[in-house]
Amino acid sequence: MRRFLIAGNWKMNCGPYDAAELLEGLKEKKAEVDENVDVLVCPPFVSIGMAVNYLHDTDIQVGAQNLHFEENGAYTGEVSGSMIAESGCNYVIIGHSERRQYFGETDTTVNKRSHKALEHKLAPIICVGESLDQRKSGEHYDLVKNQVTAALFDISKEDILDVVIAYEPIWAIGTGETASPEQAQEMHEHIRKVIGGLYSEDTADRINILYGGSMKPANAKELLSQPDVDGGLIGGASLDAESFSEIITIAE
Ligand code: G3P
Repeated sequence: MRRFLIAGNWKMNCGPYDAAELLEGLKEKKAEVDENVDVLVCPPFVSIGMAVNYLHDTDIQVGAQNLHFEENGAYTGEVSGSMIAESGCNYVIIGHSERRQYFGETDTTVNKRSHKALEHKLAPIICVGESLDQRKSGEHYDLVKNQVTAALFDISKEDILDVVIAYEPIWAIGTGETASPEQAQEMHEHIRKVIGGLYSEDTADRINILYGGSMKPANAKELLSQPDVDGGLIGGASLDAESFSEIITIAE
């Protein structure tokens, strides 16, 4: 039986001061979480230390939004897997469509970052998803299959059990245009079949597949009730303590 994971991707929001205010609100509403649900916040790098300290006495975990695939060295501005792990994180988002769009992220670098995350005992949340044009042209299933395969192809059958996949249709991110529960379920089922083909059906059944793309309290129940939707990767709604808490409660 898979656990639910409700993860907040804060993106480039909430430096330490605003983060403290948001986390205070979250602690008041959801410091304790149902045992079948994992809750995670992914602040910008500059707020991770403060978030780890703030949340140390709660059930809420902390993750990063990216990591470099090199261990250390002359990579100005980059942050390594060991630094993120040392800061108290358990997860790291990899391959978000915004990093693919704006920062040259490729399927190859997603795979390299995923290996580095696993090396440092960070669970990679690997993002995949199609554009509206790719969906309209019927390319979306092949595209997502290729993204999943390129990310996972050489990850061991032991390490894969720590991997989380996030299906984030690009056309639903930040637009308020959420995928329907049926669209989400169809793609999640497809992703699980792709993983089953790479590993085994039993392994695929154990992998968390999150939905991301305008998940809100109003639509979370329908999305999270789908058999292959194992949680959410939430942007805008995670920046509001009330909304994020409501989605966590719906998952419980
Ligand atoms: O990583 C999650 C994010 O891309 C979804 O953003 O604002 O549509 O919930 P949002």
